[in-house]
Amino acid sequence: MRELVILAAVVSALHAASLPTDTDVQYECQEDQDNIATLEAESFINDHHRHGYKFKFVSLDSRSAEEKKVRLCDTVVLGITLEETECHIVNPKPLDQCTTRMETQTKVKAKCNVTVSSVEGKAAVKRYICDTEPASHEILLTKCPDCPSLLPLHDPKALESVKTALQKFNKESDHKSYFKLMEVGRISTQWMFSGQSFFAQFAIMETNCTNKEAPQNEESCKALCGDQARYGFCKSSKFGNEEPVNVECEIYEAQNITHPMKHPFPCHGFVKIPPAIYPICPFPPPRLCRGPPDFIRPRPPPQ
Ligand SMILES: *[C@@H]1O[C@H](CO)[C@@H](O)[C@H](O)[C@H]1NC(C)=O
Ligand SMILES: *[C@@H]1O[C@H](CO)[C@@H](O)[C@H](O)[C@H]1NC(C)=O
Ligand SMILES: *[C@@H]1O[C@H](CO)[C@@H](O)[C@H](O)[C@H]1NC(C)=O
Repeated sequence: MRELVILAAVVSALHAASLPTDTDVQYECQEDQDNIATLEAESFINDHHRHGYKFKFVSLDSRSAEEKKVRLCDTVVLGITLEETECHIVNPKPLDQCTTRMETQTKVKAKCNVTVSSVEGKAAVKRYICDTEPASHEILLTKCPDCPSLLPLHDPKALESVKTALQKFNKESDHKSYFKLMEVGRISTQWMFSGQSFFAQFAIMETNCTNKEAPQNEESCKALCGDQARYGFCKSSKFGNEEPVNVECEIYEAQNITHPMKHPFPCHGFVKIPPAIYPICPFPPPRLCRGPPDFIRPRPPPQ
């Protein structure tokens, strides 16, 4: 079977060489095909990323073929850098319309080693390892001393502002359903004359309650799943101690969100604890359509 595949690969490689059409190029792990592999790595990583924001490919930093053979495809390990975008994973916007963060918003970078091989002429990701890190506080200070800086995702005071913001959204929104918190995406803070300010971004999910009945019995409101569920993304700000919280949310039309995480995929990496961001690796457990949000205590990576 393996010989057959290899033979087919040789034939198609020859074919591709003699007829260089763009539409049906066979991926053969060649260096001049690295753009095919990095595109596949980017979409594969995002398909398996079930928390936080989508990541965008920014650079290919290294490549090492595990074994060099002429024409025959083995595996190639690509060292790539990705950056966090402003699109949360619940946002259906295509990745190419999502912008990466500016330095003043604290960039998040992931350095990944992605193992790619050729399966039936297509680039296929075998595994990846990523270290994900926000830019240091010092960088923020030099670029923008007055910009808010990131807080750990479970900061109690900041979560209080998120809770108030979500209550306000549910009370005032035109949507009939009651939305509950899916996860906090990021929180930043800044000190002002009037006290500490909080800026939060969070994802919400539609429940089976209406926003009239929910406040009495929040626990029994269950998140809708699959193609019935609408998700949303909110930004809130609370200036100082006295001011009321401001909140704005976008609600996205229901879409079919698949769960590639049903089949666990090896993904190791490093992230600082307590986390202020969602790393690409290690995978925290998926949370869409699941019982009470565990955002309060982001889990440490398995040792
Ligand atoms: C990727 O591979 C390089 C070279 O082997 C290594 O130095 C680096 O630590 C690896 N990165 C990760 C995230 O494992
Ligand atoms: C929502 O679903 C839960 C679990 O299925 C159920 O116990 C609850 O009564 C439902 N609430 C409403 C308002 O339908
Ligand atoms: C979601 O997928 C199901 C089954 O594949 C399909 O019947 C349904 O129409 C889809 N819903 C949306 C909103 O695309």
